Amino acid sequence: MSNYHIKNLEEYFQVYRRSVRNPENFWEEIAEEHFLWRKKWDNVLSWDFTKPEVKWFEGAQLNITENCIDRHLVTRGDKTAILFEPNNPNEDAEHITYKELYKRVNQFANVLKDKGIKKGDRVCIYLPMIPELAISLLACARIGAIHSVVFAGFSSTALATRINDSECKMVITSDGSYRGAKTIDLKSIVDEALEDCPTITDVLVVKRIHSDITLKEGRDVWLQPLLDKASTECTAEIMNAEDPLFILYTSGSTGKPKGMLHTTAGYMVYTAYTFKNVFQYRGNDVYWCTADIGWITGHSYIVYGPLANGATTVMFEGVPSYPDYSRFWQIVEKHKVNQFYTAPTAIRALAKEGLSHVESNDLSSLKILGTVGEPINEEAWHWYDDNIGKRKSPIVDTWWQTETGGIMITPIPYSTPTKPTYATLPFIGIQPALMDAEGNEVKGNQVEGRLCIKFPWPSMARTIWGNHQRYKDTYFSSFENKYFTGDGALRDEVGYYRITGRVDDVIIVSGHNLGTAPIEDAINEHPAVAESAIVGYPHDIKGNALYGYVILKDTGESRNQENLRIEINQIITEQIGPIAKLDKIQFTQGLPKTRSGKIMRRILRKIASNDISNLGDTSTLLNPEVVQGIIDQVLV
Ligand code: WT7
Repeated sequence: MSNYHIKNLEEYFQVYRRSVRNPENFWEEIAEEHFLWRKKWDNVLSWDFTKPEVKWFEGAQLNITENCIDRHLVTRGDKTAILFEPNNPNEDAEHITYKELYKRVNQFANVLKDKGIKKGDRVCIYLPMIPELAISLLACARIGAIHSVVFAGFSSTALATRINDSECKMVITSDGSYRGAKTIDLKSIVDEALEDCPTITDVLVVKRIHSDITLKEGRDVWLQPLLDKASTECTAEIMNAEDPLFILYTSGSTGKPKGMLHTTAGYMVYTAYTFKNVFQYRGNDVYWCTADIGWITGHSYIVYGPLANGATTVMFEGVPSYPDYSRFWQIVEKHKVNQFYTAPTAIRALAKEGLSHVESNDLSSLKILGTVGEPINEEAWHWYDDNIGKRKSPIVDTWWQTETGGIMITPIPYSTPTKPTYATLPFIGIQPALMDAEGNEVKGNQVEGRLCIKFPWPSMARTIWGNHQRYKDTYFSSFENKYFTGDGALRDEVGYYRITGRVDDVIIVSGHNLGTAPIEDAINEHPAVAESAIVGYPHDIKGNALYGYVILKDTGESRNQENLRIEINQIITEQIGPIAKLDKIQFTQGLPKTRSGKIMRRILRKIASNDISNLGDTSTLLNPEVVQGIIDQVLV
């Protein structure tokens, strides 16, 4: 019998040791006993981090939707699979059972097929948090199409870049979306994007807000009439273990977004196994992750991980502040949520609004609280623990990444003693290493370094779509034979990990990963801008906010600075989306640069954080005088 469900700390240590001593044997047992295979593998693992190449369960055949849906029909066909809570609290929640999900996924899959979508084709999904979003992922997986979900807060330019990079054939979108008291016209954003997307032949449109939109003849169609006509049976495409399942874009510190490619079998096994243990899911528990499916958290822990375990997973369309700041807690009470998984930025925003919003609701159903996306500060951790969990629901601080596919460092609740701000211990099978600047592993406890992983795990991304060299350069070239995460971390006296934050030019704002380069590129498109540099600085709610240093061209210097600030944020909103807007913009005469012409962001970060007492060594700068110029401006 394999250890699918870990129940105490002793068992964790024992299983962990086994997973590290003999990974092939361990993962083979988990895969064998808990999933549905059309054909078993010939080889559990082959890997070479120098190429890099990683293959799990090679030779196996399966379809992930048979694991997430079909196999539950006999045992729990009438159980709610997806519990949809609409934006408007007066609209009824929708309980989609496993049986209904089966039919709806098959109908959707048949519509895709009728439109000519085949195994290996890329389908872009740009939808709000409505059931069709989850269903469209599964429909693609049913027929072997590769889904590429783009978060519906991204702009038309960002959407077009992602569609073109992976040469999608189809877009699935809606007439619009609800977001609190606002409605957003998603279809126009798609129309604008598609002016530059030659590979798109079809657009399927979900009716959500019943707005008056135009459908482009020969390209756009309403989805519902097609679904109504489609058969509720669709044979699952038999996929090889390493066939692509999806592409999901994430920001890099330079260049365009990276299309991380995840494959089928390893991703399924790892997301299912982590979901079961990190959330200790049992019986008829109701599990709610507040993320958007447009991010990896939603892919792995709203859709695939929970459904592979036959769980009930809540999907919430709205925002925490609508109709007021008690909305999350009302939903917890209404649906008797047992596991609740959110981001530190949401916790901080809710904490600021005071306890009255919490106290009016019965939160006694909660058993486990989760956090993800950025380091959680001590104050937010305690607020969550005291007021939401009432000190009886353990907090799982889960560290992971789009690239890792699943949770990597986390407590196992009720087993691992938690410690505020610590993600604690590596999950089963995960072998972290801390590295020093010289590239040596820092052994022992009470040490700090760059966080790497030294052995493959089943759900790791296999490549960057269309650019394997970039995959190698970004993740496997900093430290020999290791996957480099881009994060710094420390290990305390008992071996617990604390993630200290990014060590590269990625900035995490409200839990969203933003690269500096694309934002700087957007700003530089403003006709009055000569050059710019973006850094993060601490922000009470967002964790980090963006601070832009902008050098104007001669022609721009006479312009009204307030107007320029507005225009710069407009360009960013158009090119990337409102999440990348700058909180502060400082117009400067110069930027501190090294002799090789690289911007010294370390100094800019300090100035932005109001920490100018110790700027470190500036002697290597090409232009040390600009630093004082920038500081003088701030001091006025
Ligand atoms: C980066 C990955 C995977 C979930 C959503 C974010 C940061 C993530 C934690 C945590 C401290 C965290 C890291 C990581 N991060 N979780 N529990 N504690 N930092 O996915 O957009 O790919 O971002 O988020 O810096 O590298 P992502």
